[in-house]
Amino acid sequence: EKGGYEHFMLKEIFEQPKSIGDCMRGRLNANEGRLVLGGIREYANKLVNAERIIIVACGTSWHAGLVAEYFIEEFCRIPVEVEYASEFRYRNPIINEGDIVFAISQSGETADTLAAIELAKSKGAIIFGVCNVVGSSISRVSHEGAYTHAGPEIGVASTKAFTAQLTVLNMIALRVAHKKGSITERRYHELLVELENVPAKVEKALKLDTQIKEISETFKDARNFLYLGRGYNFPVALEGALKLKEISYIHAEGYPAAEMKHGPIALIDEEMPVVVIATRDSSYDKVVSNIQEVRARKGRVIAVVTEGDALIPQMAEFVIEVPKTDEALMPMVSVIPLQLLSYHIAVMRGCNVDQPRNLAKSVTVE
Ligand code: F6R
Repeated sequence: EKGGYEHFMLKEIFEQPKSIGDCMRGRLNANEGRLVLGGIREYANKLVNAERIIIVACGTSWHAGLVAEYFIEEFCRIPVEVEYASEFRYRNPIINEGDIVFAISQSGETADTLAAIELAKSKGAIIFGVCNVVGSSISRVSHEGAYTHAGPEIGVASTKAFTAQLTVLNMIALRVAHKKGSITERRYHELLVELENVPAKVEKALKLDTQIKEISETFKDARNFLYLGRGYNFPVALEGALKLKEISYIHAEGYPAAEMKHGPIALIDEEMPVVVIATRDSSYDKVVSNIQEVRARKGRVIAVVTEGDALIPQMAEFVIEVPKTDEALMPMVSVIPLQLLSYHIAVMRGCNVDQPRNLAKSVTVE
């Protein structure tokens, strides 16, 4: 049942070209300029006219929500708030009749996320569910939704659900932006084509496995890790750190790279591995400066860069090259090496990667 892989997590990491493809199947055809999502048909106009969107989720799904905030705001020009479901539900949140609330959940059973949408629904919000498990509680409470179709995710650490969530949310954002006219025709088509090419790029990124195993060997005994990224890669830094801590039990923190100098920089010394997601995008130059700041304090830099980058290899101790794609879609590609890094480190430390201590696949109690 693990398809020849040693763990479900590894199988699920390697399934991503297929799961992302499955998620787009029947919905996206870049050649024909077609993007249809059954779930948003009825509410498409409401989304187009939305004054704001609230996203509620927990854990990795919350990270997907953060990435979505960036592209929904960029493409649709609709303000987005991303909320931890547990915080949202208990602070008497301001929800107006007709507000749009997206709930993102792999299991569709997370207690806090479920309670958050029940609350929002009772105040007249329209609930849009992005779930993986068909027929799950969150999908049933939602007015509308789109399944991620990633297939069952067994490993406790979420991997293929995350990339499928981003795929669905990207399709929704593009569909709404196109309908609204907030994106140029050219960029819209460019992004459809790029989205369709993501599975092939993820496939290529998975070929980094051997290199990442070697890097893992170097850092498997580290006590701490820092993950840095900016813009679209900031939530990827958070996700990379979460993956590492939950399965390898190494303390790890993700930060927006520019926040480093507001505190975490004090932690950097020759013992501190710093994973920097530094792909070629609008924040690139700034991230390069952040790498230099880490180097100046003797931090050990592991950089995830775009293929062909000539500058960062001169600064970083390890360089992981991922295929180029649009910056808005990069998280689906740049997260791959981070999933692999956490997996290999955890295995090398003798951890039970599929069932890490203290964690449950579906958190049905608050
Ligand atoms: C991390 C992880 C958790 C879940 C979180 C939400 O790898 O698995 O952080 O992402 O418990 O779960 P869902 O998406 O099922 O609501």
